Amino acid sequence: MGKPNFLFLSIISTLLVLAQAEDPYLFYTWNVKYATLSPLGVPQQVITINDQFPGPWINSTSNNNIVVNVFNHLDEPLLFTWNGIQQRKNSWQEGTLGTNCPIQPGTNFTFHFQVKDQIGSYYYYPTTALHRAAGGYGPLTIHSRDLIPVPFDWPEAEYNVLVGDWYSKSHATLKKQLDGGRTIGKPDGVIINGKNGKGDGKDAPMFTMTPGKTYRYRFCNVGMKNSINVRIQGHSMKLVEIEGSHTVQNVYDSLDVHLGQCYSVLVTADQTPKDYYLVASTRFTKTVLTSTATIRYAGSNSPASPALPEAPIGWAWSLNQFRSFRWNLTASAARPNPQGSYHYGKINITRTIKLVNSAGSVDGKLRYAVNGVSHTNTETPLKLAEYFGVADKVFKYDIIKDEPAENVGDKITMAPNVINATFRNFVEIIFENHEKSVQSWHLSGYSFFPVAIEPGRWTPEKRKNYNLIDAVSRHTIHVYPKSWAAIMTTLDNAGMWNLRALVLERQYLGQQLYISVLSPERSLRDEYNMLDDQLVCGIVKGMPVPKPYSGA
Ligand SMILES: *[C@@H]1O[C@H](CO)[C@@H](O)[C@H](O)[C@H]1NC(C)=O
Ligand SMILES: *[C@@H]1O[C@H](CO)[C@@H](O)[C@H](O)[C@H]1NC(C)=O
Ligand SMILES: *[C@@H]1O[C@H](CO)[C@@H](O)[C@H](O)[C@H]1NC(C)=O
Ligand SMILES: *[C@@H]1O[C@H](CO)[C@@H](O)[C@H](O)[C@H]1NC(C)=O
Ligand SMILES: *[C@@H]1O[C@H](CO)[C@@H](O)[C@H](O)[C@H]1NC(C)=O
Repeated sequence: MGKPNFLFLSIISTLLVLAQAEDPYLFYTWNVKYATLSPLGVPQQVITINDQFPGPWINSTSNNNIVVNVFNHLDEPLLFTWNGIQQRKNSWQEGTLGTNCPIQPGTNFTFHFQVKDQIGSYYYYPTTALHRAAGGYGPLTIHSRDLIPVPFDWPEAEYNVLVGDWYSKSHATLKKQLDGGRTIGKPDGVIINGKNGKGDGKDAPMFTMTPGKTYRYRFCNVGMKNSINVRIQGHSMKLVEIEGSHTVQNVYDSLDVHLGQCYSVLVTADQTPKDYYLVASTRFTKTVLTSTATIRYAGSNSPASPALPEAPIGWAWSLNQFRSFRWNLTASAARPNPQGSYHYGKINITRTIKLVNSAGSVDGKLRYAVNGVSHTNTETPLKLAEYFGVADKVFKYDIIKDEPAENVGDKITMAPNVINATFRNFVEIIFENHEKSVQSWHLSGYSFFPVAIEPGRWTPEKRKNYNLIDAVSRHTIHVYPKSWAAIMTTLDNAGMWNLRALVLERQYLGQQLYISVLSPERSLRDEYNMLDDQLVCGIVKGMPVPKPYSGA
């Protein structure tokens, strides 16, 4: 069976490439290495891409084809994920351990994906080991195509601002702690684009603004544990986009950016020409960790005021801010139609899945779970096991229940956690947080409508409080302590998709799962074929490649 299929497969993938030929390609070659840098002022091991930390900016336009040839110079297997890029029909390029075999040290692998029908602010990061604790992340932005109107004027410049908490221990030491069953504890500082500024006037300006001009700042929280509040001395920020959706343009003094989230704002240089601090500080923590970056007005050299604006206190403020975010229903998106014409509130829910996070221990070691199951990665990626028809040898579907018992988190078991979902179902997912810390969740492959966040426990009656009109379509949602959040989405993107906690140690110790969305048709209309150069590993290595999808 092998040979004809290989031939057929390459014809199909050639056709696929031809079919997309009208959309421009962006090519990148990345050399991923260790380097010694001092993000918090003390030398430590960091992961760089082409000697940069954060990594290179992927600056794209809707529908561009992106090709990234990654050379792994680390001593460990490596993968990158493209956080928030929907990978339509293409979970093959998702870059998580449930979809891809990792790139072995000393080898290279090329990611191919299209930023189809998306706009907005995103970032990429390594998903293997605990590499994210060493960096390896960078900004990925998608502009609207020329003919698509954008609801604000083209800014003078755009600045990517990747903020996050940071540990001064190496990722290897932190990983050893987690593997040994212990928490990695609290972070040691906050960094902005890889640097920790102390607000002492000693740092070189990171951003420059010309008086009178307007700039777009794209904030993403790429950290590991804490929500971060961002603000700029003396300036307000006009919110224009959240994770790929144009918002109603409210003005804020500061924004809470929870783990994994991205917000873009417009800032006008309309104050006295001098330096100003951009401030990022942790939220909901006993000890507040802070970092500054200097914004200079071009042509001035007066120092910034040492008085840093304070962050708000408590999470009620944060919840109110979340509720103020609204989708601009009249702004066009990547395609001219979807927003105003798409009434998600009128679609009947076909499945409700309630997910409860918990912490506990298994054999005396710390683990984190979803509905009592702590996910374990398998040597054969789930996607490949399913595609090659050997899923039953690698994992079981649906080991958690959609309606878990109240005490579901009390006992934790370890297993690959995969939900079998029905293609094109309209689902409601409830994240119920019984714990005392803020959670943040990312669903890959989709954007969803976060219709509510409320304190307490969810019940079906709470649906009457949902925002069924203008919730901001996005890919990451946070949940306050002892609260719940509800999201809705149509499962119309076939593939194997990761739903993960953004708190890094929770994710690493099992607080994640996969949603398998299989199109029964095995048609190219619904899912691309595996490319010839896809890495194979585990039990599928050497197996004949299944009959490729056909049609269109
Ligand atoms: C980013 O891409 C946009 C759209 O193609 C372009 O106008 C802009 O100049 C680019 N920015 C940089 C810094 O390359
Ligand atoms: C590895 O890099 C070489 C040289 O750029 C390229 O020709 C080849 O296709 C790459 N291999 C993979 C698996 O991406
Ligand atoms: C929404 O977008 C439209 C179209 O670009 C724009 O005219 C309008 O001002 C925006 N509305 C708000 C409230 O931001
Ligand atoms: C949704 O469900 C209601 C009640 O079961 C039914 O009357 C209605 O036709 C359904 N709407 C759609 C769009 O399927
Ligand atoms: C998954 O669900 C579909 C229905 O959507 C069903 O046909 C299929 O048998 C299920 N697969 C497994 C392995 O349970």
